[in-house]
Parts: sequence; C-alpha cells; structure tokens
Amino acid sequence: MEKEKKILLTPEQISKRNLEIAKTISRDYGDRQITMIGVLKGCLVFMADLIRHIESPFTCDFVQVTTTFSHEEGEPIKKNIFFTSNFNVKDKDILVIEDILDTGITISYLMNHLKEENPHSLKVCVMLDKPTRRKVAIEADYVGFRVPDKYVFGYGLDYHEQERGLPYICYYEG
Ligand code: IMP
Ligand code: MG
Repeated sequence: MEKEKKILLTPEQISKRNLEIAKTISRDYGDRQITMIGVLKGCLVFMADLIRHIESPFTCDFVQVTTTFSHEEGEPIKKNIFFTSNFNVKDKDILVIEDILDTGITISYLMNHLKEENPHSLKVCVMLDKPTRRKVAIEADYVGFRVPDKYVFGYGLDYHEQERGLPYICYYEG
C-alpha cells in the first residue's frame, strides 16, 4: 500500500513561529553578542530562516554530532562531536540551534561538552520537541513546536538523507 504523506506544519505556521522565537531571543539577549552553534545537518533551514530575524549581534558556527552503533544489537554506543571551525566557548553566550529534541541524548552530550569550556551562558533553541521520547532529563530554552512521536521530515530534516528542501514538515502515515 502507498504511504500517505501528512503535512504537520505548513510554511506559514513555521515562518510565523520563527518570527516569534527570533523576537524572544532578541529580547532576551538584547545587545549581547550571541555565539550560535548550529547542529548539522538538520539545523540547516531552520537556522538560516531564524537568523534573518534576530536583532542581537551574533556569530554562526557549526558542529556535527555523530553516533556509533554497536554491530550486534544496533544500539547507540558512542557519540562524537566534529567542529567545522575553531570558536571560543569560554565566557561566551552560547546558543545551540538544533532541529529536533527527541531522546535528548545528542543535545545533553553536546551541552555537557560545551559546559566544560565555561561559557558565560549556555542555552538551546530547537525547532521541534518530541517530549514523549525523552530518555535524558533535558528541556530546550526555546521551542518552535511540540510534535507527536512520529518520524518527521522536510524543512531541513531528512528522510533517508532526502527531502531536506521541502518547505513544510510532514510524516508518512501507514
Ligand atoms: P536525540 O539524541 O534522540 O534527541 O536525537 C536527536 C537527533 O535525531 C536530531 O538532532 C535529529 O537529527 C534526529 N531525529 C530525531 N527524530 C527525528 C525525526 O523525526 N526526523 C528527523 N530526524 C530526527
Ligand atoms: Mg540533529
């Protein structure tokens, strides 16, 4: 049977919410310099849209967090952070930009690593939050939308590495 694609969030809903988040971030940081760290690859479209509405001064850097899975059970066993540039964390106001907070394992791993470098402040902004799947107690400081426990894609999120360019966020039913 054909899988049916369901649209969860339209481009209009997404851009309206992005504007709201950007306003909140700009209000919270004011004239302070934000060091934004995008988590690749999923942050791609969200971050590009968000930064165009941020009024505080900011720089953009990127990391990729990879997961190694065990051969036998296919369980995640190890995370690694790849830095695409050198940037300072110490004494900076760090804002991590992530596509989706799911089990929380990726973000908490990254946050713990960044915390060791003594930032002045450390916050997370996520486009989507799947609170029902959490395995690590972590909440984002800024959340675009809370979404149900479905595999979602589009607007930067992939479906087997495809579909990141869809202007909406959707899922397959069935
Ligand atoms: P966590 O460590 O379980 O919180 O994993 C979060 C990462 O898994 C996200 O940064 C995404 O890259 C990926 N992910 C989790 N759920 C989805 C989804 O529904 N669609 C696309 N990617 C997802
Ligand atoms: Mg991600």
